[in-house]
Amino acid sequence: MPKKIHVNLFEMNCVGHISHGLWVHPDNNRHRFNDIEFWTELAQLLEQGTFDAVFLADVIGAYDGFRGGPETALRESVQIPNNDPLLLIPAMAAVTRNLGFAATFSTTYEPPFAFARRMSTLDHLTKGRVAWNVVTSYLPNAARNFGLADEVEHDRRYAIADEYLDVLYKLWEGSWDDDAVIRDVDNRVYTDPAKVRYINHVGENYRVAGPHLSEPSRQRTPVIYQAGASDAGRGFAAKHAEAVFVGGFSLDDVRANIEDTKDRAVAYGRDRDHIKFLAGAAVIVGRTDAEVDRKVAEFRRLRSVEGHLAHAGAGLDWTRYHPDERVADIIARQDPGHQRLTSRFRPEQTVGEVLERFGGFDRGPFFVAGTPKVVADELERWVDHGGIDGINLRQFLTPGTAADFIELVVPELRRRGRYRESYDEGETLRERLFGAGRSRLPAVHPGARYRDPAALAATTPEPVPVG
Ligand SMILES: Cc1cc2nc3c(=O)[nH]c(=O)nc-3n(C[C@H](O)[C@H](O)[C@H](O)COP(=O)(O)O)c2cc1C
Repeated sequence: MPKKIHVNLFEMNCVGHISHGLWVHPDNNRHRFNDIEFWTELAQLLEQGTFDAVFLADVIGAYDGFRGGPETALRESVQIPNNDPLLLIPAMAAVTRNLGFAATFSTTYEPPFAFARRMSTLDHLTKGRVAWNVVTSYLPNAARNFGLADEVEHDRRYAIADEYLDVLYKLWEGSWDDDAVIRDVDNRVYTDPAKVRYINHVGENYRVAGPHLSEPSRQRTPVIYQAGASDAGRGFAAKHAEAVFVGGFSLDDVRANIEDTKDRAVAYGRDRDHIKFLAGAAVIVGRTDAEVDRKVAEFRRLRSVEGHLAHAGAGLDWTRYHPDERVADIIARQDPGHQRLTSRFRPEQTVGEVLERFGGFDRGPFFVAGTPKVVADELERWVDHGGIDGINLRQFLTPGTAADFIELVVPELRRRGRYRESYDEGETLRERLFGAGRSRLPAVHPGARYRDPAALAATTPEPVPVG
């Protein structure tokens, strides 16, 4: 049996997510992102295409590093204006039955208790179709929005995230028994108090008493997605994640990163197969080569290199230079912002080459432009040789990118036995990834240990009495 491909749509509640500049394309609908219909129509389209899920990225600050302010990001709509991702989910869930929803939320700025309830609410409303993309946030402006002078140090953010998840697991997995709600009218007992407990978490960063306020939802813990690339980030993924956005410079690099994360997961007592790996994929498909070439040329013409520079937080305004100037010249002149160039660029690179790289949607490891056969070949190569389980489909146009994929690529993948024919009705998102009957975290996952009330009590000291 050929391995089937999981497909998520890479989205964000904003105009310009990662394909900067294409908001000016006449076929792009993204300026409608404030309308609920934009999201309900998109969800219905994805469900027609039997996508696994829509994946919603998020940032909680502005990109104001480039040219010392947010002006470029604002002008080119680089993730601003943006809106909350979680609030889209009930709307999209109401018009679909099977599509999954993976939303990003940061562990760095808002404490865990309210978020635990929000995710449980979403898991109830969607009947077990939600995932959470755990991020620790990288924008300095985000820190300043939440009362801090600057970003929390990188590895410390992951240490905080680790405790954050510990609190959530206690609330989601440990605070309520499955059979706590009995709705016993005769004896006037809605919830059996003996089956609900405080968590009494006292840690370095959080003190949370519990009990959790939501009763158990189908998945309890939402499916945990994560995209860390650093050593700390990969360690975090190995311990917690069930779906990883794997990065890398090439197919071989991606395969090595997958193996590394799986090895680390085993060291945490987990199973190698308990993590799925998704690669960000840029796919431009057309019925003919001419149609494909036309689309690629159009996207290249309309893209905004400045938008990409703002997104990357480029400390140097590369647009000020002649394209033939070399990195070595800029360093030699000690121009403002030159300090970080040595580690990130080669001295002989020209400004033109650097700008091309920043704006180049066609040079990531997974870029394919071609007819359905060419695209399907490349997807199969990444699954069979790269070791990925699926993709996070990058959008150039909304709804064009997803519509093209559904119309042209999905039938080709189905012909090859690589893509589901239909959903298994009523399955949870975790079941879609790991198989029927597996709606809950597996027993070897670190979050599962709190199902045992003794473990919950053992890991949490008694709270310090108040007064
Ligand atoms: C596909 C993908 C999606 C991501 N989405 C977000 C996001 O929505 N919000 C965010 O703050 N960071 C996002 N990130 C950044 C990661 O959370 C992470 O910070 C980054 O990959 C660097 O890894 P590190 O934190 O381990 O250094 C994303 C990364 C990737 C590869």
